[in-house]
Amino acid sequence: MCGIVGAIAKNDVVPFLLEGLSRLEYRGYDSAGIVVANEGLHRLRTTGRVSELSKLVNTGGTTGFTGIAHTRWATHGAPSERNAHPHFSGDHRKIAVVHNGIIENHEVLRQRLQQDGFRFLSDTDTEVIAHLVSFHLRETDDLLDAVCSSLAELKGAYAIAVMEESRPDRIIVARNGAPLLLGIGEDGFYAASDASALVQVTQQVIYLEEGDVAELSDQGYRIRNCLDSVKGCEVTRTVTTSTLTRDAVELGPYSHFMQKEIFEQPVALANTLEMVLNAQSISPQLFGSDAQTIFSQTKRLLILACGTSYHAGLVAKYWLETIAKLPCDVEIASEYRYRDPIADPTTLVIGVSQSGETADTLAALNYAKALGHRYSLAICNVPESALIRQTDLRFLTRAGPEIGVASTKAFTTQLAVLLLLTAVLAKMRNKLSSQEEQKMIAALRHLPVAIQRALQSEPEIKQWSGDFSQKHHALFLGRGVHYPIALEGALKLKEISYIHAEAYAAGELKHGPLALVDSGMPIVAIAPNDELLEKLKSNLQEVRARGGQLYVFADADSQIEASDGVHIIRLAEYGGVLSPIMHTIPLQLLAYHVALQKGTDVDKPRNLAKSVTVE
Ligand code: G6P
Repeated sequence: MCGIVGAIAKNDVVPFLLEGLSRLEYRGYDSAGIVVANEGLHRLRTTGRVSELSKLVNTGGTTGFTGIAHTRWATHGAPSERNAHPHFSGDHRKIAVVHNGIIENHEVLRQRLQQDGFRFLSDTDTEVIAHLVSFHLRETDDLLDAVCSSLAELKGAYAIAVMEESRPDRIIVARNGAPLLLGIGEDGFYAASDASALVQVTQQVIYLEEGDVAELSDQGYRIRNCLDSVKGCEVTRTVTTSTLTRDAVELGPYSHFMQKEIFEQPVALANTLEMVLNAQSISPQLFGSDAQTIFSQTKRLLILACGTSYHAGLVAKYWLETIAKLPCDVEIASEYRYRDPIADPTTLVIGVSQSGETADTLAALNYAKALGHRYSLAICNVPESALIRQTDLRFLTRAGPEIGVASTKAFTTQLAVLLLLTAVLAKMRNKLSSQEEQKMIAALRHLPVAIQRALQSEPEIKQWSGDFSQKHHALFLGRGVHYPIALEGALKLKEISYIHAEAYAAGELKHGPLALVDSGMPIVAIAPNDELLEKLKSNLQEVRARGGQLYVFADADSQIEASDGVHIIRLAEYGGVLSPIMHTIPLQLLAYHVALQKGTDVDKPRNLAKSVTVE
C-alpha cells in the first residue's frame, strides 16, 4: 500500500527520498510523487515506477534540503498524475501533503471546504487534508498547530507528512492507525512509513505512537500527542536501534526478492525456532510471560487472518484439533468483522499476520475483544507492528524482512510457530507425552535441513514451468492438512503469474470442478505419503480418466508412478507432522518459475500490495 518518506538535512535530500521510495516499492503502488523545497515547492508526479520519477527528477535537476515523497496505491480516484501525491493547497501559504490510509469523512469535509472556497483538483481523500490544513492556517501562524487542529476533524486511519512553502525548514508528520517512524541521522532528520526506507541513512529510529504529531526541523524534532486534546502535550519517545540491516533489504546474488526469500527459508525457520532447537522442552513462556495462565483457561481457539496468513490458520486448525484436541475456528478477518459471532471468554483469539498492519485483521481482532473474547495472541513478523502491541501474548516469527509481495518465508515460519503452539497446548492438556514432545523437538530441529532438501527440487520444477506458462487455468488438489497447502499453491500461482488457479479438497472434485477437466487442464496434486494417500490416488484417477494432465508432488517413498499424462516430482522424505511446511516449498518454486517464464513483475505483481492497510 502507500508509502511515505520525508527528510530535512544538511545536504540534498532528493537521493534519499528516491532511494526511500524504491525501498517502499514492495508495498505495492501505482503512482509516485515528490516535492522538494528550493525557493518554492517543486513537485513531480508520475503514474510510472519510481525509476520514472527518478528520470523526471534528474531531467529537472531537482534538489533541496527539505522534501517529502510518496508511493500511492489508489483507493479514492484512479491511478493518475492528477491523483498522485503530494497534494497542494493554499495560494499565499502553499502547503504540500502526502498521506497513507483513508479519511472516512472526506465527503462531508470536501463539501464544507468547497463552500469555503477551496478548489479541488483531484478525486482523492488526501486533498481534503491539504485544504483543511490551509483552512486552519488562517487562524494560526504555526503549521504544527494547524495540523493538530486538522487532525481533530479527521476520521479514519492515516499517516501524513506536511510541508509549507514559506517555512522550508520543517516538516510535520503524524500517525493515527497507520505506521510512521522517525529516523535520527547525523546529517538530518527523516520520516518513513517503513523502517526499510531509513536504513540507508540511520538505524536510530523512533516509532511514533497513535495520535503522535512530530515536527522535524534542521535543529531537531519535537513530538506532541494529540489523542486527548486538539493541541496535545509534548511527549518523549524512546530512540531505538533498528535491527534492520542494508543486506536484509538488498537482493544480493538473487534475481528477485521472492527467490531470495524462498531460499532463505531454512535460515528463517532456524531463527524462528532458535529457542526451541536449543531447549529440552517446549515451554508456554515462548508466547509471553502470561501464557501459562492464559493457556490454562483456553477451551477453544479462533484464528483471524487474511490471504496467505489465513491459509496458515487453516493448517493450524488440523494440528490443533488432531494433536491438542482443542476446537479451532479460522475466519477470514474481513468477513468476521462484519458478522454477529458468539463471543466466549474462554476462546483465545489469534491474529496471524506477516505485517501486523493488515487493517481487516486489526479490526477483526478489536471486534472480537469488544464482543467479549478475553485473551488474544499475535503471530507476526514485524516487532513494531500494531498487531504486536494490541495482544496479551505474542510470538515473533523471525523470518527477516519479506519484500516480495507474495508471502513465502513469512508463511512457513507462521506454520512453524502454529505447530509450536499446538505442542504447548497439547502438552498442557496431557495430550502430548514427553516422548512425543521429544519427537516433535527432533522433527523441528531437522526442519531447516528438510527444507534445504525440498529446495533441491528446483531444476525439475523449472522444467514443468514451461507447460504452465502456456495455460490460462490450473487446478490444485490436496486432502486433509494439505488442502490449505493446495489453496496456498493456487494463491501463489495466481498472484505472481496471473494464471487463474483454483484449489479444491480432492474429494470435492467430483462435485463440480471435474467438469472443467480436459486434456488442456494442468492439475497440481499434493500427494504426501500420509493416511489419505490412497483416497487421493482415486481422485487422481478421476482426473486422468478425463484426460487431465497431472503434476504430482509426492514423497520419496509414496507408490505413485509417472506415466503418460502423470508427471511426478518427489520430495526427499515424508515430513510427518511437518509435511505441510515441506510441501509448500515446491509450490512456491513452481509459481516463481512460471512467473519468470511469463515475464511478470514477480516481486510487485499488478494491483497487489504487501501491507494492506485499508479495508
Ligand atoms: C496482502 C499480501 C499477502 C498477505 C495478505 C495478508 O494481500 O500481499 O501476501 O498474505 O496481505 O497480510 P498479513 O500481513 O496480514 O499477513
